[in-house]
Amino acid sequence: MISIAIDGPSGAGKSSLAKRLAAELGYVYVDTGAMYRAIGLYALRAGQNTRDAAAVAALLPAIRLDIRAGQGAQQVLLNGEDVTAAVRQEAVGMAASDVSAHPAVREFLLATQRALAERSNVLMDGRDIGTVVLPNATVKIYLTATPQARAQRRLAELQARGEAADYDTVLADICRRDDQDTHRAVAPLRQAADAIRLDTSDIGLEESYQLLKRTVLAHIA
Ligand code: DC
Repeated sequence: MISIAIDGPSGAGKSSLAKRLAAELGYVYVDTGAMYRAIGLYALRAGQNTRDAAAVAALLPAIRLDIRAGQGAQQVLLNGEDVTAAVRQEAVGMAASDVSAHPAVREFLLATQRALAERSNVLMDGRDIGTVVLPNATVKIYLTATPQARAQRRLAELQARGEAADYDTVLADICRRDDQDTHRAVAPLRQAADAIRLDTSDIGLEESYQLLKRTVLAHIA
């Protein structure tokens, strides 16, 4: 099986680029962030403090996650409920970052993530795919951009959806997520030694896509 690992900070454009490339290659797209988001959503709904490792770990036995992976799309079912759209909210992103720091949560998701890569050719996106989940991935990409460039894009996305947002708040959220994701003790966000770094700060979406595609094709051919 061929596996393409794409890691990087939030807002670097990973998911839209990865989804499109997976569809074009006919690979299964696996969005691991959505799995952490589903657990974050469950914890929020349960009224638990998402930073409390023991409280979050105690919820896990009641959580059943079903990942319906397809070409260029993924559905997440949380105890049978389709939460694919619900997990995209801003508050859920922060909760996901909180719960993802807990070793029990990472352990809970690891087997599911690896099993998906054993069954099909996958393009998997996340924070620790190249370093922990699929250390033997066929090709590893570290997709990044400056916090300022990511904040601009995120702001445009939120405004397009009609959500109230301002640049400073979005930038502060991005910096806080980066800080949490890179400084946690387990599986922190970092570039794998054998990953190819692509910086999209100064290029648009289409150019980023072509760069990603070219780079991936050069390694799986
Ligand atoms: O990519 P995303 O914004 O949907 O991810 C949400 C959070 O989940 C992110 O802040 C960190 C965490 N995450 C992780 O720790 N490991 C992954 N492989 C994917 C996401």
